Amino acid sequence: MHSMKKAAAPTAETLRIGLIMKNLECTEFLQHYLPQLRFRWAGFRKVHKQVCKRLGRRITELGLSGFSAYKGYLGEHSEEWQILDLILQIAISRFYRDRGIFDILCSRILPSLAKNILSGGGNELNCWSAGCCSGEEPYSLQILWKLCVIPEIHQDLPLRIIATDIDHNMLKRAKDGYYSESSLRDLPKELVQQAFTRSGKFYTIKKPFTENIEFMEQDIREQSPEGFFHVIFCRNLVFTYFEEALQREILDRILEKLYHGGIFVIGIHESIPKGVTGILQYDNTPGIYIKAD
Ligand SMILES: C[S@@+](CC[C@H](N)C(=O)[O-])C[C@H]1O[C@@H](n2cnc3c(N)ncnc32)[C@H](O)[C@@H]1O
Repeated sequence: MHSMKKAAAPTAETLRIGLIMKNLECTEFLQHYLPQLRFRWAGFRKVHKQVCKRLGRRITELGLSGFSAYKGYLGEHSEEWQILDLILQIAISRFYRDRGIFDILCSRILPSLAKNILSGGGNELNCWSAGCCSGEEPYSLQILWKLCVIPEIHQDLPLRIIATDIDHNMLKRAKDGYYSESSLRDLPKELVQQAFTRSGKFYTIKKPFTENIEFMEQDIREQSPEGFFHVIFCRNLVFTYFEEALQREILDRILEKLYHGGIFVIGIHESIPKGVTGILQYDNTPGIYIKAD
């Protein structure tokens, strides 16, 4: 009887080298394919490991041997581009993200906008949260509005928010309004206590803070909600992940939707393309712009 020779188990060193090679292949894949979907590598640099993990899972699911086989598969299956586009979506958010932005909104911007609307005979303030993830941004705004702005202006004025995202799973989570402790870590404790019901390590947003928020599935590359807005949030999406020409196209559409004197907010680590006119930085504050009258 022949004795079968067992293959030697891979050493820690060969596993490490294999991992480095996969990472390099993935980086090379992303640098080549991101521009074809109008994304930019600079935005993905920090998060490429999680994207590579997802790509690895997809390659396994398809029974392919690696990235070069996946390239071939993309060439032969045009429908795979849509799946690749989904794999490239990054969904990270938390309540009160970039705390300084919310502090200025609460102390100055929103009370002043509200007073202008009331004195002009208006009856609501309209906001669009684009790329709203699982609701952290629109709910942060509604919490701020009810607990900070309304007591400041001593008058009732509803804040209506249209919150859009491409990912229906995120929107479902947003509607459920159920969060882990870590997503609330930046929200001031007194606001957490007033706006959430706690059960163990999880928190559910209370009903009054969910009112006047409409969640909609939309792709910001092609769609925008109807109507005009006093405040538009578009943070950690367009100006991080999309190529510059696409940023300009989307920004043009966003600015058309913003009232004169309205406020446009991006992420504090983001910047808008050079030479854009029609908006000015608000009081030298990174991330906040005002539409010129
Ligand atoms: C990194 S998260 C940012 C969430 C939030 N704006 C913030 O700053 O915390 C990006 C969100 O944009 C959504 N998204 C990605 N591509 C999109 C698109 N083309 N149109 C609309 N939303 C998109 C993702 O599903 C995700 O929820």
